[in-house]
Amino acid sequence: MYPRHEGSGLLVLAFLAGLQIAAECRGTTPCRPGFSEDVYKVVVPDIAEKGQPLFNVRFLDCGRSGLVRLECSNPADFRIEADGVVYAARSLQPSTLPASPLLIKASDSTTQEQWVTQVRLTPAAASSQQVQEVAVPPVMSKDSKEIVFPSRHTDSTLKRVKRDWVIPPINVPENSRGPFPQELVRIRSDNDKNRSLRYSVTGPGADQPPTGIFIIDPISGELSVNKPLDREHISNFHLRAHAVDLNGNQVENPIDIVINVIDMNDNRPEFTHQIWNGSVPEGSKPGTFVMTVTSVDKDDPKTNNGMLRYKILSQNPESPTSNMFTINNQTGGIITVAAGLDREKVPQYTLIIQATDMEGNPMYGLSNTATALIRVTDVNDNPPEFTAETFFGEVPENRVNVIVANLTVTDKDQPNTPAWNAVYKITGGDPTGRFSVPTDPTTNEGLVTVVKPIDYEISRTYVLTVEARNEVPLARGIHSPRQSTATVSIRVIDVNESPYFEPNPKLTKLEEGMMPESTLTTFTAQDP
Ligand SMILES: *[C@@H]1O[C@H](CO)[C@@H](O)[C@H](O)[C@H]1NC(C)=O
Ligand SMILES: *[C@@H]1O[C@H](CO)[C@@H](O)[C@H](O)[C@H]1NC(C)=O
Ligand SMILES: *[C@@H]1O[C@H](CO)[C@@H](O)[C@H](O)[C@H]1NC(C)=O
Ligand SMILES: *[C@@H]1O[C@H](CO)[C@@H](O)[C@H](O)[C@H]1NC(C)=O
Repeated sequence: MYPRHEGSGLLVLAFLAGLQIAAECRGTTPCRPGFSEDVYKVVVPDIAEKGQPLFNVRFLDCGRSGLVRLECSNPADFRIEADGVVYAARSLQPSTLPASPLLIKASDSTTQEQWVTQVRLTPAAASSQQVQEVAVPPVMSKDSKEIVFPSRHTDSTLKRVKRDWVIPPINVPENSRGPFPQELVRIRSDNDKNRSLRYSVTGPGADQPPTGIFIIDPISGELSVNKPLDREHISNFHLRAHAVDLNGNQVENPIDIVINVIDMNDNRPEFTHQIWNGSVPEGSKPGTFVMTVTSVDKDDPKTNNGMLRYKILSQNPESPTSNMFTINNQTGGIITVAAGLDREKVPQYTLIIQATDMEGNPMYGLSNTATALIRVTDVNDNPPEFTAETFFGEVPENRVNVIVANLTVTDKDQPNTPAWNAVYKITGGDPTGRFSVPTDPTTNEGLVTVVKPIDYEISRTYVLTVEARNEVPLARGIHSPRQSTATVSIRVIDVNESPYFEPNPKLTKLEEGMMPESTLTTFTAQDP
């Protein structure tokens, strides 16, 4: 059970983890490829020369040999061969060992499947003190711990807290591939020396639902786990262990046993929405907040397995630059990093966002992607501009409410918004206020309209100056160009007016006793 490789000279290496021969495909159970362990614990020699074999991992390939490729996370320090043997890629000393676990990845290029295992490295010199502290699942370290019922006479390593005994929790990794039952720990009473005892465990996971996960050999006291555990389903178990004699008499006070399920990275980050909608005003300064995207991972957030990092994979269009936005890799907050957002050029950006666990490690983390749609909203950064410098019109004299000329403007801002709608103002050439220029709400044209009658005999032409603006002021830094002012030249048309009497009707008095043929009044007509 404990492979021991002997290298030349100093090399002594031991597998505390204990490489278990991976379960072979038996009966109808389909063969599941994978590493024989999710975590290997390895003691490496204090000084290893370059090229020295250090340890090996075992990958159960279910007959795909040759298709599965093995890689190390620190290729500068370690080299792995196809048979799973790991060599020192340079001379190694305890001080130069990587602090974080070594990760080994297996990938099948034909199916895109990947498997990752961790290798915890301990230098041989340090191993004697440190080994117990590292969170090694006891299922692996089979110099098996015993849990002894506390006895009044024995000075056990267990600490007394009030009346209860505190027993260190047992750590069991989830998703173990077996074979089952897998022994965890042996429970013993010192009273077994002069009499036969029977051991049992109770509680959820043992005799209460979900039953049968943990079993104990009643005679030897070996406590085993009988099936793979799922931390995302149940993260810990609280069992009670009992010892009785053959007559069923309790010979020890029951003890509490806590079993913690150790997380493995068996869940991919999931975005809470597939499409995220955000917006940002055009012309925003770099550093403007746009939106936040969120992804969740069911794995333990206190471990790397549940620690996510966000990243922008692509931006479309890549205009005016390919990096208009950046994402806070921990919060998922998206902000602008470049100037030049212009709705009139790019009204919307599409970002592909990726969340990766294992703190974003691209080689070992599991990833998922989502889409962020960023709408660039309009601001009034374009003034209305007349399509001509001068417009012409004609008006018959003495008519009101006639449209004399239509002034057309263009405005690049979003149609039918206050940043597009034009407002016209006569700034010159109309001292007597004979014209006004309302806006046609559908075409945005300025309708030069006569509001007071015009007399040809008084003025034959008008030359108006008209200014166009938007309903809202222009954005800061944008100035109204010359094209926002136009001249309107209006010719007044003479109308052949008929002569008229004045006054009309004319009041005349007929006095009593007037002589025939005497004059009553005189009618006078005029012709303009
Ligand atoms: C068994 O041994 C323990 C101490 O070793 C002693 O206290 C106890 O009385 C013994 N019991 C029997 C049934 O002999
Ligand atoms: C964004 O908009 C799309 C369609 O317009 C919708 O399907 C999606 O649910 C929206 N996303 C959010 C987070 O509201
Ligand atoms: C996350 O961002 C921080 C600060 O910008 C940076 O130091 C770190 O390297 C980034 N991590 C990843 C995984 O991208
Ligand atoms: C001006 O516009 C009005 C309404 O949009 C239209 O009825 C009229 O014919 C136009 N006149 C000229 C001179 O284009």
